[in-house]
Amino acid sequence: MEAARPLRWGIAGFGWVARDHAAPGMAAAGAELVAVCDPDPAARAAAGAAAGFASLDVMLRDGRLDALYVATPNHLHRDAVERAAEAGVAVLCEKPMAARLDDAEAMARAVRRAGIRYGTAYDQRHHPAHEAMRGMIAEGRLGTVTAIRIVYCCWLASGWSADNWRADRTRAGGGALLDLAPHGLDLVQFLLGERLVEVRALGQHRVQDYAVEDGAVLIARSATGALASLHVAYNHRETLPRRRLEVVGTEGMLVAENTMGQSPGGALTWLDEEGAARVVAVPHGDPFARQMAAFGRHLREGGDGFDLERDLHTERLVHQAMDQCL
Ligand SMILES: NC(=O)c1ccc[n+]([C@@H]2O[C@H](COP(=O)([O-])OP(=O)(O)OC[C@H]3O[C@@H](n4cnc5c(N)ncnc54)[C@H](O)[C@@H]3O)[C@@H](O)[C@H]2O)c1
Repeated sequence: MEAARPLRWGIAGFGWVARDHAAPGMAAAGAELVAVCDPDPAARAAAGAAAGFASLDVMLRDGRLDALYVATPNHLHRDAVERAAEAGVAVLCEKPMAARLDDAEAMARAVRRAGIRYGTAYDQRHHPAHEAMRGMIAEGRLGTVTAIRIVYCCWLASGWSADNWRADRTRAGGGALLDLAPHGLDLVQFLLGERLVEVRALGQHRVQDYAVEDGAVLIARSATGALASLHVAYNHRETLPRRRLEVVGTEGMLVAENTMGQSPGGALTWLDEEGAARVVAVPHGDPFARQMAAFGRHLREGGDGFDLERDLHTERLVHQAMDQCL
């Protein structure tokens, strides 16, 4: 790819996250959205000047794409990634990698075989508050990190959207755990700079009237022994505090409120070992726009935080946890 011209993106699945977050993020990163593929004509029409396709194969053949962003329902990620790999097009695929672990493993094989660049769209890595936290942890400002505690919850009723595939196990692969926990598990590993090696989970079907779990608690341990806990839920009123990330160390603590999610903003507080609290000033930055810019750098130069094998490891943790709460 020439460095001078804008990156040419295609999108498979032009629904909520693609329309409201990824496409604006591509524009903000100076890239061009040239084509979208979606079976829904209204979704294609929402893509403005980008060419609309009902067939992914035709789009991959005709779209002259540098990269494909995959934002279909989870069970369709595998097909889109395999087709892009066959066409030699780089992929940024939404989380979870797939509804089923064997699909994620097959995707990884296709990516390796084709030698394309691949990233999982863990946008929360690119939130400036999370980058600042990672830096402070690496500098030893918290001492030894003992635990990370995450609350990442929302309210998702069965009629949340016209076709609520998230409540359908076949298409989603699971409920609140499979949808929300990947972000937290990835973020913990990002903050610590090391892998989680063990995970346990309990799920619940307590409030919503669908078959997938509407809440779960996960606990996990990192390679060097830091512990993590995650409460994820679809049964949590959004009027109540529901997005919180705490890192506890022997010499202090970081508390991030409302930084987890798709949007910029939130607040970061650092507490020293005496408990004195200071607001940490974090530059404004849209996690999706920063993710798209980072993926552009990844295509040009490699690196910049995208790593198939790491993401496959995280996906295995997600599905291990899922298997425990079926
Ligand atoms: N990173 C994040 O914060 C975040 C947020 C929301 C969703 N997501 C992920 O993004 C994906 C999409 O979620 P969403 O909320 O945008 O869903 P959505 O239902 O709003 O959109 C999905 C779109 O895919 C289209 N589609 C269905 N079959 C298709 C096919 N065969 N080819 C192409 N398009 C097809 C649908 O018509 C729809 O427009 C999911 O994997 C989800 O987990 C990630």
